[in-house]
Amino acid sequence: MNNTIITIVDQAIKNKIKVELIRDGYKGLINEWFIPADPVFLDNFVNRGNVVIGSARCLEFLKPEVQAKAAKILKQHKIDVLIVIGGDGSYNGAYKLSLLGAKVITLPGTIDNDIASTEYSIGFDTSLNQIVNSLDALKDSFGSHDGICFCEVMGRHYSDLAIRSCIANHCQAVVTIDNVKTAAQFAKIAQQAMANGVRGVMFIVTENIYGKNGLPSLEQIAKEVETITGNGMCRAVVLAHIQRGGTTVASDRFKSSLMGAYAITCVKNNQLNVAIGLKHDALITTPIDKAVTMPRKKHNFYFLEE
Ligand code: F6P
Repeated sequence: MNNTIITIVDQAIKNKIKVELIRDGYKGLINEWFIPADPVFLDNFVNRGNVVIGSARCLEFLKPEVQAKAAKILKQHKIDVLIVIGGDGSYNGAYKLSLLGAKVITLPGTIDNDIASTEYSIGFDTSLNQIVNSLDALKDSFGSHDGICFCEVMGRHYSDLAIRSCIANHCQAVVTIDNVKTAAQFAKIAQQAMANGVRGVMFIVTENIYGKNGLPSLEQIAKEVETITGNGMCRAVVLAHIQRGGTTVASDRFKSSLMGAYAITCVKNNQLNVAIGLKHDALITTPIDKAVTMPRKKHNFYFLEE
C-alpha cells in the first residue's frame, strides 16, 4: 500500500491537487487524524510491506451515526474525494459514505484477494512471496527429517494464497473449503508421496477451516496422521502475520503504483464513487454500489476459470 500512497501523493502534487493523508483508516477519520502528505518522508517506505500511515479495524464504523459523523468531518475539512485502500470492510464503509454524499474512490488492499471487482489486490503478491519463502524453509526442515508438514496460510474465507503457494512450491495437496480432508485422507496422500521417494511432505491448508464448524484443529489432524503413518514428525505450522509484512516484491510495487496513479486520473476526470481494479492486467473501474454487491468468483484466477 505504501507504493500506492507514494504514487497518489506524487501524482496529486504534479496535478496541483491538494492531498492529505489520514492515519489508521476510518478510525483516524472519525478522530480527525489528518496528517500532511510529505513525499520525501514517504519515499523511505517504497520497499516496506503493509502501510506506513497505519491501518485499524474500526467496528464502530458499522454504526450509521458514526458514518454520518465521518461524512460531516469530510465536509468540514473540505475533502472533495476520499481515496480508500482496503478490503471488504473498507469498501462497504466507502459505499456508506457515498450514500451520505461523499465522493469516494476505492483501491483493493488486502492479501486475501477477495474483492469481487478486481483480479488483483495490493499486497497479494508480496504476501504470496512471503509464504513461498517460508515454505522453502519448511521444506528444508521437513525434508531433512522426512516429516509431514501442515502449513496454514491466511486468506480469510478464500484460498487464492493457499492455491498459488501450493502450485508454486509443488506441495502435495491444498485444502480449500471445497475439499476438506480427513486425517486418513492426508495420511494416504503422504504415504503415497513417501513411497514415491518424497522427503518432506507439504500440505497447504487455508485458515478458518480446521478447528471450526466441528472439524478437528490442524494440530489434532497432525497428531492423527502421526498415529496412522507412524511418522514422528507430523507438525502443524501456522504462518500467521509473517504473511502481512516484509519487503514488497516488484510486481506488487508496479501494480499498486499503477492503481494509485489511476486514482488521480479518476479524480481529474471526475470519475467518482468507483472501485478501481485490474482485469486481465488492465485498469478498470466499477461503480462502488456494484462493487460491494457483486459476487466474487470462487478463486480469483481468470486463467483457471476461463
Ligand atoms: O484480511 C487480512 C487478514 O490477514 C486475513 O487473511 C486474516 O484472516 C485476518 O486478516 C487476520 O486478522 P487479525 O490480524 O485481526 O487477526
